[in-house]
Amino acid sequence: MSLFVTFEGPDGAGKSTQTGLVAERLRSAGYPVTITREPGGTPLGERIRTVLLEPGECAIVPRAEALLMTAARAQHVVKVIQPALESGAVVLCDRYIDSTLAYQGAGRGLPIDELQELQRFAVSSCVPDLTFLLDMPAEDGLRRREDSGSPLNRLDRDGLAFHQRVQEWYRQAAPGDPERWLVIDALRSPDEIADEIAEEIIRRLRRRGVSAGANRKSE
Ligand code: TYD
Repeated sequence: MSLFVTFEGPDGAGKSTQTGLVAERLRSAGYPVTITREPGGTPLGERIRTVLLEPGECAIVPRAEALLMTAARAQHVVKVIQPALESGAVVLCDRYIDSTLAYQGAGRGLPIDELQELQRFAVSSCVPDLTFLLDMPAEDGLRRREDSGSPLNRLDRDGLAFHQRVQEWYRQAAPGDPERWLVIDALRSPDEIADEIAEEIIRRLRRRGVSAGANRKSE
């Protein structure tokens, strides 16, 4: 087994930029890497993503939203994440279980313990070894998202109070498990952030006795 790394944080915090930059650094250091994202990552997951994120696609009640996010995840684990880890790749996943707890739990107000039970049903023991919280105020993330010019998805359009509840959940969850969570100040330059994240991943890999070039299979 290699290392399962997830990236979490508010919308607009730069998670997808970071997965790309960190993957480049790990690959140049000789580690095989698989990048993936949620909701999505598989053909089924990408179809579910369209239903979930397209504004005006259809009104989705919170429990249906949680189940769809989690259904995409169950498929993702079996088809992508576990096979990649078994092949020896470092898996960099843009959002995972914590997003459901933050957005559908804290954001929409669904009971966190029931969502956790649902996650156990969906992913069994496939939980992250390391999670980076790209931390920035929710309003900065939303402003970045608006300034980027890319179309806003259905969840981006939820109000600031929703995104602040999400951000607050992340900020409370991270200190509860310091071995898994690392909080990163996401207001710094992307290269500075990527250097710090890649160094930490390499440190964890070495601690597990995984050396660069041990398995060159890469995606
Ligand atoms: P995306 O465009 O990928 O945004 P980001 O770059 O911020 O990740 O959209 C994913 C959206 O889906 C984002 O608003 C968070 C939300 N989401 C949930 O609400 N629950 C989940 O379990 C996951 C994985 C994502």
